Amino acid sequence: SDDDEPEIVNGDDEKEKETQKPVDKVDITVADTNDSKAETAIEIPDITKENVKKNNKKVEKDIKVEKKPLLEHPTVHVEVKRDPKIQVARLKLPILGEEQRIMELINENEFLIVAGETGSGKTTQIPQFLYEAGYAEHKMIAVTEPRRVATVAMAARVGYELGLSSKEVSYLMRFEGNVTKDTKIKFMTDGVLLKEIQSDFLLSKYSVVIIDEAHERSVYTDILLGLLSRIVPLRRKRGSPLRLIIMSATLRVEDFTENTRLFKDPPPVINIDSRQFPVTIHFNKNTNSDYLKEAYKKAVKIHTRLPEGGILIFVTGQQEVRYLVKKLKAAFPYRKDVDYTKLITKNKPVSDVDAALDSEPEDIESDDDEVEREMKRARKARRKAKQKSKTLPKINLDDYDMPEDDGQADLVDDEDSEGHLSDSDAEEDSLTPAIKSCRQPLWVLPLYSMLNQNKQARVFNPPPAGARLCVVSTDVAETSITIPSIRYVVDTGKKKMRVYDHATGASAWRVVWTSQASAGQRAGRAGRTASGHAYRVYSSAVFQHDCPPHHAPDLCRRPVDDLVLTMKCMGIDKVVNFPFPTAPDRMQLRLAEKRLEALGILEKPPVKNVRKDDEEVLKVTPLGKAVSAFPLLPRYGKMLALSHQQNLLPFTIALVSALTVPEVMTGKPDSWPATGNVLLLGDPGVLLRAIGAAEYAYVKGEEEVFCAKYGLREKAIKEIRKLRKQLTSEINLSVAGVNVAVDPEMKPPNDNQARLLRQLVLSGLGDQVGKKIALDEVKQEWVVFQELYETGADERRKMVMRNVTAIEPEWLPLLVPQLCNLGEPLDDPPPRYDEKSGRVKCHFKGTFGKAGWELPTAEVD
Ligand code: CDP
Ligand code: MG
Repeated sequence: SDDDEPEIVNGDDEKEKETQKPVDKVDITVADTNDSKAETAIEIPDITKENVKKNNKKVEKDIKVEKKPLLEHPTVHVEVKRDPKIQVARLKLPILGEEQRIMELINENEFLIVAGETGSGKTTQIPQFLYEAGYAEHKMIAVTEPRRVATVAMAARVGYELGLSSKEVSYLMRFEGNVTKDTKIKFMTDGVLLKEIQSDFLLSKYSVVIIDEAHERSVYTDILLGLLSRIVPLRRKRGSPLRLIIMSATLRVEDFTENTRLFKDPPPVINIDSRQFPVTIHFNKNTNSDYLKEAYKKAVKIHTRLPEGGILIFVTGQQEVRYLVKKLKAAFPYRKDVDYTKLITKNKPVSDVDAALDSEPEDIESDDDEVEREMKRARKARRKAKQKSKTLPKINLDDYDMPEDDGQADLVDDEDSEGHLSDSDAEEDSLTPAIKSCRQPLWVLPLYSMLNQNKQARVFNPPPAGARLCVVSTDVAETSITIPSIRYVVDTGKKKMRVYDHATGASAWRVVWTSQASAGQRAGRAGRTASGHAYRVYSSAVFQHDCPPHHAPDLCRRPVDDLVLTMKCMGIDKVVNFPFPTAPDRMQLRLAEKRLEALGILEKPPVKNVRKDDEEVLKVTPLGKAVSAFPLLPRYGKMLALSHQQNLLPFTIALVSALTVPEVMTGKPDSWPATGNVLLLGDPGVLLRAIGAAEYAYVKGEEEVFCAKYGLREKAIKEIRKLRKQLTSEINLSVAGVNVAVDPEMKPPNDNQARLLRQLVLSGLGDQVGKKIALDEVKQEWVVFQELYETGADERRKMVMRNVTAIEPEWLPLLVPQLCNLGEPLDDPPPRYDEKSGRVKCHFKGTFGKAGWELPTAEVD
């Protein structure tokens, strides 16, 4: 039958190979990989509940063959000589006691889920178990990580524990890697494995794929899981089984096990019990919006009053990490030439931590004040010294562990720099280290994604004698990286999240409250080696009301059109049937496909490639490929891609930025120079003139007056300015061959450019065309609009078009051919040979769209 048959084998692998179905019957078509030009078409069989039920019935009928299928597995054992010290440390990990059970389950199953507390040893140990069991003898062991930091750090750690070099335990991520032909265990970012699937769909280099940190639910991880759920059975049919191990923190494992689209039968789950020590959670009474200041104060208090144990501080991004590292280092500097061991006794064990931190007569501020006073004294001293041209005692900088700038750009974290980071950096720098050498030092280390490898690695080492470890980290330390000996966690409760504009798909990183689940994970970091304390520097009311239980998976927060295009570009054709771990709305996916088809971003393939059982497989067009490089919804990506060809990119960027911001003009169009027409607020000419003029006023310091006079919303103008900069740099980074600058005082487009821009707007919004049927005061016959929405209630309800641009109907057959129905070519005027394009052009009469609006005659190829 053509149905998706469940895998039932008689236990004889050889026989299976002989009787297996020919590959073309399999529901995943694989392009001939020898032909590098061949496109990989990935089809996802429809495993709806009904289908599964049908299949289950069949299984019941064929009950006599219901024997556990044998799965080939290596029988060799690879000797590993580990350093005895490492072996001792390994034996302390909870996962080691489970090695045999884990390996049995892996040997007998194609899918396995390993859930366990962070730090239980999943990432570092399971690849080693597999290696020792011979899984790297003929093919490689693949491990994917959603984060770059973990990719490098874990490869290094596993190599070290196995006594192997980076030639054998390697890593690969975008722009960087050390994989060789001898690589046995390959750590990579999830995006890299997705790329590999596009050229080798069966992942034939690997014997096992481990998807690590699956609970993070990154877009790539989710797509990988969907693909692998289909690749694994296919590999078995080819007689060369592939295993999939899904590893996750103990969060929402049911998303993987209770999803019948993903796995027909839920895979076995191993829960690793871990020795988690109790962690006491403390909330602040009030929530101060300056969470960095609160985190700093809390760290100072912990360090000066509480017994030994590392401190881990969670902030949102690289800039904040660096700022806090600098500030804490300045407050408690470490000097190589001082013996701090005697100082340790200063911090006596305290039995009641709450009392020590919260109800002591000495107030929080005092520490801060003391530091401030010291710094003031230092600055004063320095000024005096300068005035008198006398130098302070010379101090050799090499004696200090100075905060260094590693000069690495962080594409992710730098964007939302709020002013609060820059306040006192300069002051801290001018502080004389000698003044502060009397305190017990803090060994303060940064941790974030783009930090270079050597610096990342430092967090795993114990601090120098006498100093207390303090790691300031982004959420990488939440589950991917476990730092030993942390006893105090300071949680700002914040994280950065990519937030998409619903209208244009422009995205920005926003600081948001973490989920309650994340807060729990962060707190847990304090209880790895002993009981600990987690200080949330916000109130319990915020935790209850503002922190969601979980954040939705990335894939579901992304605009659907963008997701569809991304997946089509990966060769995943049947997006609607894709087995997502958490599926976006199917209807939305279908509508997105239709929209993209209307815009020429997707198309039906030429008939010869369509198999008869396919109803509708839409493939990405060459234009679609170009569009996908732009970090916006495809319709705006299309405007940008086409405007790039016309050298109008800076204008279009400004235009799209303006279309992203609501209510740029506050309805005082009278004050605009009369154009004879009703003002069309989405018109490129109008918007660009407004932006350019406002920028000019801004440079002269007259923005406020200007905006008021011309009915522009000042906040909107500021927002547009920010977006233009952001979008420009993102486009320069992500689109090959593009390097445009932001021209602050943009001259308005000339008539020809304005006309081209209106055509570009049509090219992106061509499925949103309106034709005048009434309204005498409006001159324009045909328009495109950005959005249609409803206002008013009951009989006063009406539909309103937002951001409207005038177009000419002759453009429609050229720019939105997918929605035009053209009749026979007309004899009058006669066909004409066009030298420039080498084509014959004729005049056509036709209709547009479902409404069947009549088009005037237009000249088309
Ligand atoms: O993956 P999971 O969170 O279950 O744990 P892991 O990352 O395998 O970490 C197991 C242990 O190894 C933790 O206690 C880490 O602190 C330790 N580790 C280390 O000491 N040095 C490294 N470079 C990496 C991990
Ligand atoms: Mg891990």
